[in-house]
Amino acid sequence: MCSDRSYSAGYTKDVTNEQSERSELILGIESSCDETAAAVVRAGTNVCSNVVASQIALHANYGGVVPELASREHLRNIVPVMREAILDSGYALSDLAAIAVTEGPGLAGALLVGITFAKSLAFGLNVPLIGVNHLEGHIHAVLMEARQHAEQTMELPLLALVVSGGHTHLYLAEQHGNAIQDQAAWRYKNVGRTVDDAAGEAYDKVAKLLGLGYPGGPWIDALAKHGNARAVPFSFAEIKTRAPRPGIPVSKKAPAAAHGPSFDFSFSGIKTAVLRYVETHGLKPSIEARREALAALPAPTIADALPLCDAQTLDLIASFQHAVVGNLLRQTFRAAELFGVHGVVVSGGVAANRELRARFQAEADRRGLPVAFPSLALSTDNAAMIAAAAWPKLLNREFADDSLIATPQLRLG
Ligand code: KG4
Ligand code: ZN
Repeated sequence: MCSDRSYSAGYTKDVTNEQSERSELILGIESSCDETAAAVVRAGTNVCSNVVASQIALHANYGGVVPELASREHLRNIVPVMREAILDSGYALSDLAAIAVTEGPGLAGALLVGITFAKSLAFGLNVPLIGVNHLEGHIHAVLMEARQHAEQTMELPLLALVVSGGHTHLYLAEQHGNAIQDQAAWRYKNVGRTVDDAAGEAYDKVAKLLGLGYPGGPWIDALAKHGNARAVPFSFAEIKTRAPRPGIPVSKKAPAAAHGPSFDFSFSGIKTAVLRYVETHGLKPSIEARREALAALPAPTIADALPLCDAQTLDLIASFQHAVVGNLLRQTFRAAELFGVHGVVVSGGVAANRELRARFQAEADRRGLPVAFPSLALSTDNAAMIAAAAWPKLLNREFADDSLIATPQLRLG
């Protein structure tokens, strides 16, 4: 059985009481993109098991996720992954208090596999079904780990940057009052989002353009430290201001800024700028040579790619990353100031990026603002975050019924 860890006040229990332990166990299921995942989490905090079957190797041949292949692979994996999650947890299916599943956003066919399975399981076990927004899950990956480390207390309101392959969003995350409470419902307001590509998508497209592996984020992350980040001066255009959305609170400290900057993002411009740089600096032959050399290897790694990259290419990679992280940093901390938040949470696959973590931490320290990231394992897609986000919903009896369907464009806030 999973070990007990302290978690926030408001829900007291006796850990020796197995009955009450069971009433806190949620099986999370995640299948929105290219990871089939299942996890058992107790009381939204203790990760009893966390199993992820990644399809990266399958999609790498195509340089991106192929939706039909993803659905078929989820179908193949969902039962073994769930079984492993139950086995690892030390509990039995009959111990579960609820099943939580990602209802969107994501690929329609991929979501459908998880939802159909979760519905059947909940029906068979006669336990409630809880629908979770994938983006809320990413935010709760961080909140869950912050609770596990009691010293890392976060106060509300928070600003959450969810930055992944499919999303780049800024949310104000709140409950009633300043202290986070298990049983209080969360409210989110979307205060910024990408108007075109997501940041992770830009990483993936630029990596592909440069003849590197898929997904591109980890390759660019590892290669960037070998280049000069100031070599290519990429810039981000200011995005047109949107009218402030009704109901979005603005800090009294900076009321004038309410009609000022937008907190939206755009990453298609920098991708085009990298392409233009490649064309105007004659990098295409060396890219083709690198692509062919890596394709000839059975399982190419980043270490294989490094000697295949000349200094100019490494400078380009470092400059691209520096510009993307700088843009995420500026928008996030400007929004943090405007909305007067008490902490910043960064989550999603791109939150695994080393330069991003270091620069966000340094900026947060400079401002005296707490910032939290998920562990590397919980940065990318997983089901523990889905079970964690479902915990307040279980306490509030926010259950889904038979009508729960896959919602590929599901919004948060
Ligand atoms: O959250 P995630 O696993 O799936 C989505 O919901 O999209 O994020 C995957 C994205 C990919 O675009 C991948 O290139 C990016 O996260 N990523 C990274 C790093 N690790 C993964 N981007 C930058 N640096 C990394 N270390
Ligand atoms: Zn995700």
